[in-house]
Amino acid sequence: MIKGIIFDLDGVIVSTDKYHYLAWKKLADREGIYFDEKINNRLRGVSRRESLNIILEKSNKIYREEEILAMLDFKNNIYRSSLINLTPQDILPGVVELLDYLDAKGIKKAIGSSSKNTMYILERIGLTAHFNVIIDGTMITKTKPNPEVFSKAQKQLELEPQECLVVEDAIAGIEAAHNANIKACAVGDAALKQVGDFNLKSILDVKEII
Ligand code: BG6
Ligand code: MG
Repeated sequence: MIKGIIFDLDGVIVSTDKYHYLAWKKLADREGIYFDEKINNRLRGVSRRESLNIILEKSNKIYREEEILAMLDFKNNIYRSSLINLTPQDILPGVVELLDYLDAKGIKKAIGSSSKNTMYILERIGLTAHFNVIIDGTMITKTKPNPEVFSKAQKQLELEPQECLVVEDAIAGIEAAHNANIKACAVGDAALKQVGDFNLKSILDVKEII
């Protein structure tokens, strides 16, 4: 029986992915590095640092550590400026209805995100108080597909892995759920690629599974 749902944030609760893409694109253009939507799909779910490592696969230059840190800051500053415009209207369709449904059923809710901007984003869209547990990029040492973020959320929910479900849009996130022995509902990009245990057309389809 499912007693808790662990949601990824970016691309599941709120559509911040376009802002991540635009900020990385600015950095890649400045550095003269080829970057496109296909490469961007590989950044879904993975940490900021690991995302930069993936982007730098297309560069021949060897960057010093301080240059890497400066690039991470450059990207995050652009990304943070775009988040200023986020409002509750940016919550993805079906999310609020699903959260209300889970409340009515007494099912616990958690966030399991790689993003260090999680708390800021949840505040901006007004959803912080809706989650029993929030595990974000500041609380983990290993990025998805490592199971750390979801295992931590599952333990803090005080549930067993088989009592939880993960909702994810990233292939790395689906793998992380599986590595945590938790079944995964795929939405967005991951659903298109049919990598979930359940591949959903709408996040509201979670209601049919629990
Ligand atoms: C994930 C996004 O949620 O967070 C990734 O899918 C992003 O694209 C990662 O790289 C880290 O985000 P942040 O906000 O800490 O740079
Ligand atoms: Mg995501």
